[in-house]
Amino acid sequence: MSNPSSSYNGPERVFSGIQPTGALHLGNYLGALTKFVALQHTHECIFCVVDLHAITMAQDPDKLRANTREAAATFIAAGLDPKKAIIFVQSAVPAHTELTWIFNCTARMGWLERMTQFKDKAGKDKERASVGLFDYPVLQAADILAYKATHVPVGEDQKQHLELSRDIAERFNRQYDAPGFFPLPEPLIKGPGARVMSLKDGTKKMSKSDPSDLSRINLDDDADTIARKIKKARTDPEPLPSDTGGLAGRDGAANLVGIYAALAQTSDQAVLDEFGGQGFGVFKPALAELAVSTLAPVSEKLRTLKADPAQIDRILHDGAARAQAIADPIIKEVRKTVGFWGAD
Ligand code: TYM
Repeated sequence: MSNPSSSYNGPERVFSGIQPTGALHLGNYLGALTKFVALQHTHECIFCVVDLHAITMAQDPDKLRANTREAAATFIAAGLDPKKAIIFVQSAVPAHTELTWIFNCTARMGWLERMTQFKDKAGKDKERASVGLFDYPVLQAADILAYKATHVPVGEDQKQHLELSRDIAERFNRQYDAPGFFPLPEPLIKGPGARVMSLKDGTKKMSKSDPSDLSRINLDDDADTIARKIKKARTDPEPLPSDTGGLAGRDGAANLVGIYAALAQTSDQAVLDEFGGQGFGVFKPALAELAVSTLAPVSEKLRTLKADPAQIDRILHDGAARAQAIADPIIKEVRKTVGFWGAD
């Protein structure tokens, strides 16, 4: 059988998305945004504020609109250039929902039932979860494939969703006897920031939904708040080890070393070469200083951008038009391939 990944011969294209469900945090920054910023210099890039995904859980409409603008502003504050990368809002481009329906008829129930994020988010009472929450990964596949994106920078927690996107692309190509129609998108996950953990519990990922604000560093936190949160981060009384093997079973310590490495764009081992044998009384202030000096320009730019929502809206209108211009011919081809009336 032909291998659809090798038979796709379209251009390389990067796509990724972030939900507008509150201020973005250090996990989003290190796991996703810094990668977006690097990729805009080497690839055609499309970055999306995924408000359709956000409504899989209850949202206040006014807050959703404000959070959507804030997420877009954070993309730019983190270093994305809207002239280079396309920045837009998911609900502004109908291709996402149209392709989701078609993919709903390609994806299998069993595939979605295995998704750990649905199990986590739906909790014990899965009968009361929205159908949208169950279907969430299919919409994610549609996001990527509406643009025939080949590369998807994400944090570690999105790995399973990306595997599902590949399964959907592969099955569609086979189902419609269209080898190489869709690429099998490749996740770009590597790097020390791919899994940033909670500052209060090194076994849980840093997340917008954690009720404790002390568990995360938000990109709009001021310098004092960042320093205070790092000071209060849960660690242990032992000094730092001199090699990474010594971090086993020390989740809080391992997390702070990983954050330092990601911010300094180096490795965990290089951090331990510098701080091995030192206690947290020395390491935490050094980490706070590094975090503040890296994030202060981001939060400052974010404040300026938030003061001019009309500018953000202009960028988002322009981004939606550019995104749609890429998706439209792809959706046309999909309609023809599926056999819809009027598409041939
Ligand atoms: P979301 O909004 O939860 O997170 C956005 C991005 O941030 C990464 N991330 C993290 N990385 C490291 N450590 C953490 N603690 C951490 N928390 C979040 C996520 O991995 C993600 O890259 N379903 C996606 C959004 C989405 C998407 C897409 C992504 C919708 N469509 C298409 C890629 C392609 C989500 O909920 O991300």
